[in-house]
Formats: sequence, C-alpha cells, structure tokens
Amino acid sequence: MLKVLILGSAAGGGSPQWNCNSSVSRAVREGKSGTSPRTQSSIAVTSNDEEWILFNASPDLGSQILKNHQMHPKKDLRHSPISGVVLTNGDVDHVAGLLTLRERQNLSVYAHNRVHSVLKDNSIFNVLNPDYVERRELRMNEKFELKDKEGKGLGLEIEAFEVPGKIALWLEDESKGDDFGSEDGDTIGLKICSKNDNEFFYYIPACAKMTKKLADKIRDSEVVLFDGTLWQNDEMASSKVGEKTGQRMGHMNNSGDDGSIEAFKKLNVKRKIFIHINTTNPILLEDSRERKIVEQNGWEVSYDGMEIKI
Ligand code: MLT
Ligand code: MN
Repeated sequence: MLKVLILGSAAGGGSPQWNCNSSVSRAVREGKSGTSPRTQSSIAVTSNDEEWILFNASPDLGSQILKNHQMHPKKDLRHSPISGVVLTNGDVDHVAGLLTLRERQNLSVYAHNRVHSVLKDNSIFNVLNPDYVERRELRMNEKFELKDKEGKGLGLEIEAFEVPGKIALWLEDESKGDDFGSEDGDTIGLKICSKNDNEFFYYIPACAKMTKKLADKIRDSEVVLFDGTLWQNDEMASSKVGEKTGQRMGHMNNSGDDGSIEAFKKLNVKRKIFIHINTTNPILLEDSRERKIVEQNGWEVSYDGMEIKI
C-alpha cells in the first residue's frame, strides 16, 4: 500500500502568486467558483500510515503541515510523522521548506550530490543541525530503501533517474553557455515503491522533454505525477507576465505536438496527473476549454490535499 498526499500542487510562486494579477491568479484570489488556491510543489508519501517522507520541501511547508492532519505531531511532546525528505532538484520551491524543518527533529535528507553541494554552500541551511539531520546521497538508477536518521527502513524504496531539465534558476550561470551550466542530475524523476507489496508510482515534477528512455520507463504504469507547469511554451509572454518560455525554464508544455498530452497518448499510463502547475496555466480553471481538453485526454489536475492510494 502506498498513500500519496499532495501538499502543494502549484509551481514556484503558488496560485495565486503574491504579485500576479493575471486571469488565473485573480480568479483564485477572488474565490471564483471552479478555482482553488494551490501552494508550492511538494508531496508526502507513506507505506504504513505512520512515517511519511516528503518529496520536496516547499516554502509553504509550514501551512501545508498545518492544513493536513497526517503531518501533525502525534506521539510525544516533540514528534513529527515526517521522517525524511527527498529532493528532486535545487529549485527554491523544492528546498526552501527545509528551513521550516529546523528545531532539533531527526530527519534524513536525500538529494543528488549536486543539490547537496549547493545546500552546503549556503550556510543558512546549517540550521539543519547535523546532530539531528543527516544528509544522504541520492544515488541514480539504483533502487534502495529510504531510512530514517537512525538507519531504520521506512518501507519505501526509490529509484532516481535523470530527466531532461536544467539547473535551478538561482544557480544559472550565463557565462556557461546555452544551458547555464546545467549538468546531468540537476533534474531528476523518481520511481517510488512500497517495499512490502511493490506497488509504485512515478513522480516527475519537472521535465523538459519526453525522451525515448523516459517513455520506455513509464510505459504501462499505474500512476504518473508529471510536470504540468505550462499549457503552452510561450504562456508567460502571451499572459503578459514575463518573457521566458517553458523550454527556457526546463518544462515541457501540456499542449501541442511536443507537449505532454501528446507524448503520453502512446504510453498506456492508467492515471496521469499534472502537478507543479504554474499560476498562468488555464487548466487551473475548472470551466476552461483547456481543462476540458486535459480531462478528455484522461488527465487529472492535482489539487492541494488530494490523496492517491496505490
Ligand atoms: C521552476 O520550476 O522553473 C522553478 O521553480 C522556478 C523558480 O525557481 O521560481
Ligand atoms: Mn519549480
């Protein structure tokens, strides 16, 4: 058994985004029917209903913990059901929540060594006292069981794999060419499995392109949570809120010949769920034309508090 709890279904900035007045952000802020606020990108997973692992730690983690009773302290005067954190990249929306997890609580934090090295270089993360928080390497293409700080197995196995993407926005280096110094491992996807019954799902919150290798990996699977950032590549420009394209940001669009809806058509994935959705994306509006297209193609649009059982 695996239980997945969507803590935050939006991309960086959330929806509404604090400084965004475009149509989706405004509709959500005004509480229009068919809209709901979404916090930034993170999920929690358990295989035993007791110990949960966060996959990404969003800047909204404090409110996400408050809103979801599964995340509340249950046992002693100091307790958290959160036993560990796995990071899929170094984006602000995926690492800033680590700062919320200070206060002398045992945790293990798994990340690619590239991400660990930027956390190490940022001394603010020293608030994660190494007496309590153990940073462990997330090895690629290898299935292993996640363990708590004391080394006890958590009943969840993961396999990490590189996906097309780019280095975190705040680490981009223009002097390093078109890819801003991106390297393999800057963006990863995860296969997350229960150790007992080998149920699994894929979690890929950022992906710039569907490669044959990735398609072969996820084909015929039960559940895939996939990068839903933008409806179309030039959406930031067409909504007049920026000029960066999806490709420039390391995200493939939902629509179009090169989009995820098209790419998944041949993959026979039973439940396809968009996650990490940007506040400019019209699929966030339940009555939009784009939302209908997504649903007609068998996709679900994740929301905060959504539970998935696998
Ligand atoms: C992204 O997913 O492209 C990043 O989270 C952007 C950001 O850091 O705001
Ligand atoms: Mn992001």
